[in-house]
Amino acid sequence: MWEKRRVIKANWKAFIDNYLECDHCPIAHPSFVATLDMSQYSVIACENYSVQGTIVKPDKQYGSVELNKAEFKGGRFYWLWPNMMVTIYPGSGNMTVIQMIPIDHETTMGVYHVFFRDEKLTQEEKDLLAFMEQVRDEDIELVELAQAGFRSRAFEKGIFSPTENGVAQFHGMIRDALLIEQ
Ligand SMILES: [Fe+2]
Repeated sequence: MWEKRRVIKANWKAFIDNYLECDHCPIAHPSFVATLDMSQYSVIACENYSVQGTIVKPDKQYGSVELNKAEFKGGRFYWLWPNMMVTIYPGSGNMTVIQMIPIDHETTMGVYHVFFRDEKLTQEEKDLLAFMEQVRDEDIELVELAQAGFRSRAFEKGIFSPTENGVAQFHGMIRDALLIEQ
């Protein structure tokens, strides 16, 4: 297991916003996008969680067992309400659990746990860690810039694109949670 904590200069919800859409991926993550068929990339909003990735028809069958009509290729990325994420990349067994812990309204502690099959990592797994670290740096830079933008008095509200359905779900759940607490 590999663990890392990182202070992010942004509200925890800004990080989740970034995680829940991939419109920024072609520009921010060229190496990530190179591994995916972005034309099939989808965000599926489910009750209290969402999952995203490139959806393809499965090319495998196990004996007489038929697989589902859709399968993820190139990784799958779960978000669990309110602040937990689980990412799984292709290759040997791996799972990353990410938690965003609020410190104050503009500071968040990101806690990352990466699980592999064995304690001793293969070169492929070391490469995956480096790749994830690079994508993480790219995202955190964006999120901290977005946070700076929130301070602007010119900013009032944005407009969701159809591919931001996961973000819209998250904002709806935040709104409902705040209304319930009032
Ligand atoms: Fe990203």
